[in-house]
Amino acid sequence: MISRFLMCPPDYFGVNYSINPWMVGNLGRVDIEKANKQWQKLLESLSKYAEIELLSPQPHLPDMVFTANAGLVRENAFIPRHFQHSERRPEEPHFKNWFLEKGYQINDLTSPVYFEGEGDALIHSENNQLWIGYGFRTDPQSSDRIQKLFPIRIVLLHLVDPRFYHLDTCFCLLPGGKVMYYPKAFSRDSLQSIEKYFSAQNRIEIDEEDAIHFSCNAIVVQNNLILNHASTGLMSKLQSLGFRVVLNPVSEFLKAGGGNKCLALSLSSN
Ligand code: ARG
Repeated sequence: MISRFLMCPPDYFGVNYSINPWMVGNLGRVDIEKANKQWQKLLESLSKYAEIELLSPQPHLPDMVFTANAGLVRENAFIPRHFQHSERRPEEPHFKNWFLEKGYQINDLTSPVYFEGEGDALIHSENNQLWIGYGFRTDPQSSDRIQKLFPIRIVLLHLVDPRFYHLDTCFCLLPGGKVMYYPKAFSRDSLQSIEKYFSAQNRIEIDEEDAIHFSCNAIVVQNNLILNHASTGLMSKLQSLGFRVVLNPVSEFLKAGGGNKCLALSLSSN
């Protein structure tokens, strides 16, 4: 099955407010031409392995490029996000309309809980598992409703480092039952959950240097990984496990607290 992703061009991208530690000090400091080139390069790289759908960007919504936060898709069902920050809430109808027009079944989370889509909810189809991160953006209570909508085993992970405020900034599910993650971003209990589901040989732990360069924020399509950065150590580790690593630097998007993975929402379960 061909993988499909949803992306949104960065026409109105910028750091216009500050809602995560990466944005602090970067207000108005995005080089938009460079951002455009980096985004185009991602589109080109990803198009080699997947089909891409595009959403129209909207003025005054600089974070709309981060489509991973649009919601969570499983087959023909879509659970829309509910953003914690008022700055991002006006994105919600644009995302939802796109899914409505495409004929998806929309499953709203009825209670007013925060849920930031694939940024905090990652599906491992192989293991029929859904990993949900909480602590900064998504409410852990969202899992009760998601559980009713998607028959899948849910594991909650507590995020404790504000730099890694979304699960997809520090945790990346890989084929072959593997995971790449930054251990210090998680509470002790959550680390035990990760260790319970992934044996030592299936866990790729990354260090702080790779973590702050968003190495875990990788787009995974079969054995191909598209990411912002990998140290030589991480690169050889991933290659020795049979992964093909494609580096796509996205420095301008890092200023807003997002990397490659945040720029593409998966429309097909991986
Ligand atoms: N500036 C955005 C925010 O703070 C970045 C979102 C990054 N997206 C992600 N999936 N991690 O909401």
